[in-house]
Amino acid sequence: MGEQPVASTIVIFGASGDLAQRKLVPALHSLACDGLLPGRVHIVGVARSAYTDEGFREHLYQGIEAYARREPRACELWPRLSEAYTYLAGGYDDPDTYRRVRETLEALDAAEGGPSNTLFYLAVPPSLYGTIVDALGAAGLNRGQGEGKAERRVCVIVEKPFGRDLASARALNERIHKTFSEDQVLRIDHYLGKETVQNILAFRFANAIFEPLWNRQYIDHVQISVAESIVVGRRGGYYESAGVLRDMFQNHLLQLLTLTAMEPPAALSADALRDEKVKVLQALRAPRPEDVVLGQYEGYLEEEGVAPDSQTPTYAAVRLYVDNWRWQGVPFYLQSGKGLKEKVSEITLQFKRVPHLLFPESASPRPNRLAICIQPDEAIQLRFDIKKPGAGMSTAPVDMAFAYSEHFGDSVLPEAYERLLLDALQGDASLFARADEIELAWKLIDPLTRMGAPLRYAIGSWGPSRAKDLIAAEGCSWMYSCVDGVA
Ligand code: BG6
Repeated sequence: MGEQPVASTIVIFGASGDLAQRKLVPALHSLACDGLLPGRVHIVGVARSAYTDEGFREHLYQGIEAYARREPRACELWPRLSEAYTYLAGGYDDPDTYRRVRETLEALDAAEGGPSNTLFYLAVPPSLYGTIVDALGAAGLNRGQGEGKAERRVCVIVEKPFGRDLASARALNERIHKTFSEDQVLRIDHYLGKETVQNILAFRFANAIFEPLWNRQYIDHVQISVAESIVVGRRGGYYESAGVLRDMFQNHLLQLLTLTAMEPPAALSADALRDEKVKVLQALRAPRPEDVVLGQYEGYLEEEGVAPDSQTPTYAAVRLYVDNWRWQGVPFYLQSGKGLKEKVSEITLQFKRVPHLLFPESASPRPNRLAICIQPDEAIQLRFDIKKPGAGMSTAPVDMAFAYSEHFGDSVLPEAYERLLLDALQGDASLFARADEIELAWKLIDPLTRMGAPLRYAIGSWGPSRAKDLIAAEGCSWMYSCVDGVA
């Protein structure tokens, strides 16, 4: 190992698109304003549109103004930051594009006096991932060896969706691995960048009081809901070929499940963490058709880009079991959909009832419940019973609640992409999905995508009524603790 480079260059393929403008560059801007960027960061935008450097910066600035957590007027760093932003127009399958990328990187190295770490960000449609990765390899841009004594770290960041089924995900992994080794590949799941999602780890493993209860002896069932009120809108073309199972379950929902169900890793290293998540995925029992309810909101067929007889599900509810010692027999109910009543993402653990009821005057006390609210109002709530004041001994449920905004103030939570870009710049892969994780997730989801026609549900409802029956079969109901409260 030579000297560590201090500067980094992010080469964004698809730099003229929405992701760069709305997420990536606003995130980099907020990180810079908070003084968190590790060393100088150069951005080289690559795309087919014709932009000058100036035009590119102007386009990005609009995104920063509209979407950055740290407002440019309050931080005033943009004029200086933007000098490190350059643009290169070129086709993704044209070797000349990569020759110019190489020249740009070499010029930056010369200016820096040594090689900078290089991140290739694939912010392009998935059909281009393979083309770009092959071309990077052909141009020798995948190698970390710099001139002289310093070594550069080279990574490729791949957006979702990563494949559309197990076979295509495997093929994509194989193709990428021909050019980049697994430790150079960072697969994005933006849910892992959310503070409240990372907090599942802190909550579970930084406290001694919950972990002993976190198992089949005390937990009756677990619910994971990621509900969205928005409909498909302008994304009909993409969504039609994805549907909720590929768009949300294969990645975000299963990530939430693995973090909730995993064993404590021995260390917080990328491999220890991902090994434990993989064990959960390996232990998931394949759901039967009766464990799955698919839905489609009324009006989906009229969306632009959607086939008039489309059977793409916009909602799914799935009952899963993790076949291991900790979770044997505990159902995990997962649901996600668009056009639902409210936007809310939460994980709720319902505890078992008390074994013997001492208070005949009370209706049977409601079981304890712990809700981890991921969005929109990040919080943790615990429901427990107390004695109602007054004569007799009847009980009533109350809650103990922690809200991020009350505790840390309103503007503190960074955007998911801030954390993910920072980790990528620092070479920490913990919050990125590994190849085996992706493939195991597809193995589970693939059969669900062939489970027949979705049921209609009204926009603004909580999905098809069969989803209620799925969970009612075991005496439960869907909980929206983060909007309704736990008590
Ligand atoms: C994306 C999906 O990955 O996540 C979208 O493609 C979805 O369909 C979005 O709307 C939800 O993300 P968030 O952060 O708003 O919950």
